[in-house]
Amino acid sequence: ADRRFVESLLRRMTIDEKAGQLSLFTAPFATEVNPVTGPPPRVKEVQAMVRAGGAIGFFGSHDPAFLRSLQKIAVEESRLRIPLIFAGDVIHGLRTIYPTPLGEAASFDPDLCYRTARATAQEASGFGLHWFFAPMVDVARDQRWGRVTEGAGEDPWLVSHLSQARVRGFQGPDLKAEDGMLACPKHFAAYGAVEGGMDYNSVEISDVALHQVHLPPFKAAFDAGALSVMSSFNDIGGVPSTGNRHLLTDILRGQWKFPGLVVSDYESEKELIAHGFAGDEEDAVIKALTAGCDVSMQSGLYNKHIPALVRSGRLPIRIVDEAVRRVLRVKQALGLFENPYRSLSPDRRAQVEGTPAMIALAREAARKSIVLLKNEGDLLPLSKSGKSFAFIGPYVSDTVHAFGAWAATGDSRKVVTLEESVRSTLGAGARISFTKACTPTQPIDGGIDAAIAAATAADIAVLFVGESATRSGEAASTVSITIPPHQQALVEAVVATGKPTVVLLKHGRGLALTGECLNAQAIVATWFLGSQTGHGITDILFGDHAPQGRLPVSFPQSAGQQPYYYNHRPTGRPQTNPSQKSHKARYLEVSNEALFPFGHGLGYSPISYGPTQLDRDTVRKGGTLLVRATLTNSGKRTQHEVAQLYIHDRVASITQPVRVLRNIQHVDIEAGQSHMVEFELRPGDLAHIHEDLANEADAGWFDIWIAPDATRGISASVRLI
Ligand code: IFM
Repeated sequence: ADRRFVESLLRRMTIDEKAGQLSLFTAPFATEVNPVTGPPPRVKEVQAMVRAGGAIGFFGSHDPAFLRSLQKIAVEESRLRIPLIFAGDVIHGLRTIYPTPLGEAASFDPDLCYRTARATAQEASGFGLHWFFAPMVDVARDQRWGRVTEGAGEDPWLVSHLSQARVRGFQGPDLKAEDGMLACPKHFAAYGAVEGGMDYNSVEISDVALHQVHLPPFKAAFDAGALSVMSSFNDIGGVPSTGNRHLLTDILRGQWKFPGLVVSDYESEKELIAHGFAGDEEDAVIKALTAGCDVSMQSGLYNKHIPALVRSGRLPIRIVDEAVRRVLRVKQALGLFENPYRSLSPDRRAQVEGTPAMIALAREAARKSIVLLKNEGDLLPLSKSGKSFAFIGPYVSDTVHAFGAWAATGDSRKVVTLEESVRSTLGAGARISFTKACTPTQPIDGGIDAAIAAATAADIAVLFVGESATRSGEAASTVSITIPPHQQALVEAVVATGKPTVVLLKHGRGLALTGECLNAQAIVATWFLGSQTGHGITDILFGDHAPQGRLPVSFPQSAGQQPYYYNHRPTGRPQTNPSQKSHKARYLEVSNEALFPFGHGLGYSPISYGPTQLDRDTVRKGGTLLVRATLTNSGKRTQHEVAQLYIHDRVASITQPVRVLRNIQHVDIEAGQSHMVEFELRPGDLAHIHEDLANEADAGWFDIWIAPDATRGISASVRLI
């Protein structure tokens, strides 16, 4: 019946109405109606467009009353009464902001990602939305790329699993419910591999890399039920994604049977012209639509050219019909035909905005995203009494840089700063000082002197330094991935006082730390933690919770090493230890080791890993293998550990990375106790993509590790026969 309904609608649609269902636009920013002149011109224009059936929907407004008024026009005044869909870049929260996706990925915790995504969908249901342009599932291996902050890092397994959780969280158990938000994994495909880490740049990768590294997270997101996908800005080997029929049709629809819709990224169908892939607007429309890009975002080219192109016979109507069919089916899956006013009740907002449960979740997510990189002499956790502390740096009392990229809708009045949280945690009478010393981007006159004085007067200095919120995100690629120079000068001065120093880092990427920063006793990665930044940090700093986050991206020694990732292939001249200097694959200035490797993260109790053990030393193709290791907590408190299972295929027809993550396990280990971690390695875990793109395992030897990060652990080996 659902299909018949769509087909009968399709039969009744004019070519202009069909083009309209394939055209998405930004909603007007200003919507206030002037009593004399009426609505602003853009609102009038949009109302007329809706009346004429000229749009699939709009994105970028979070005003349920206004969006409801547009929906009313669509279902009461347009000829075929097709409801609109409302979208938004809701990436890590709407009003309540959770850590940036990269920060949250440091939790290595799909359940947490599911819960923050679900809570985000619930909150958004009070703001008139049906569709999120998220999650970003691009595997990102170059920290210069500003959009690293929007994804889940450098490892395909981790990105796939966290993305699946986010898709399930956004869409919820019932996509038709008020809080069921259509997920849109993006950017299809290989956008994370832009050359030189420069946003919008070209991509040059092999088919094997495309299928082994960049496509799996998309497939995982579709397996989790995502019903839309955004095509990427980049080309791959000269074919821009938005005009790439092999990608959007052969793989997506042919091999994967994806039933949902493809939307372009902001004008990327028009950008086929600048790419040099289409000669003019008409050519761009034909190429994008024929490739499988169903919906045009913002350029208006589909509305402008589809009708004439169909009439002149240059664009077959069946291609347009197929795209419209997909759009109508997605609207149907969202329940919009039955209930066009779903998620559009203005009074719902008060019930779902910033609830206590959301705030508690934001705090939990913030503390679970924090990664303790270094803790010499167990400086952390700090004692709540007996010592005096100097909190220094541009983010100590800051609200502006708490959220990071893509959070303009966040409620900045609700941000808990580090200063507020420290004051409430330590209470009256605490010996604490707070010194800004510089802004995120500029020195302040006398700032360093004030910082030195504050550090000298205290027992312990806590620096909060790093990148401003605008240094990462879209169009925010950088050639330098260090702490900005004027803040580095602050770090140098404070560490030189000799006072024990904790460095809290704010960052949207893996940083190359240098100088005295590396001599600080404690270094903590805090990313952009969102609404509960301050509480998340003090929970860890003063030991109410132990840190449990792990790095989802490697911290390199220098930007010059980029792209740098743990799961690289071996070379013919590998440097197996840093003392090997001659004619090895290396740079002259730095060794190949990461400053802090993928998967690294300390707790407040040391955990040692026993040797990896296997239940057999040969395994038949298609068989399974049990992998075990004993983890021992030799410290004084319970520690939450993320045990990581890695493999390496020693000899393969396509050489395989030195290590590849295949699974993780979260365990709590009590003080003084040991715990046996056990994984089942399944046939698919030993497979890799071959030259003919088959995903199969080759017979031969494999090394296997259960390890605390991508560089440690004691391996065992197994032969696949
Ligand atoms: O969703 C985004 C995308 O990630 C980058 N370009 C703009 C889109 C819509 O805002």
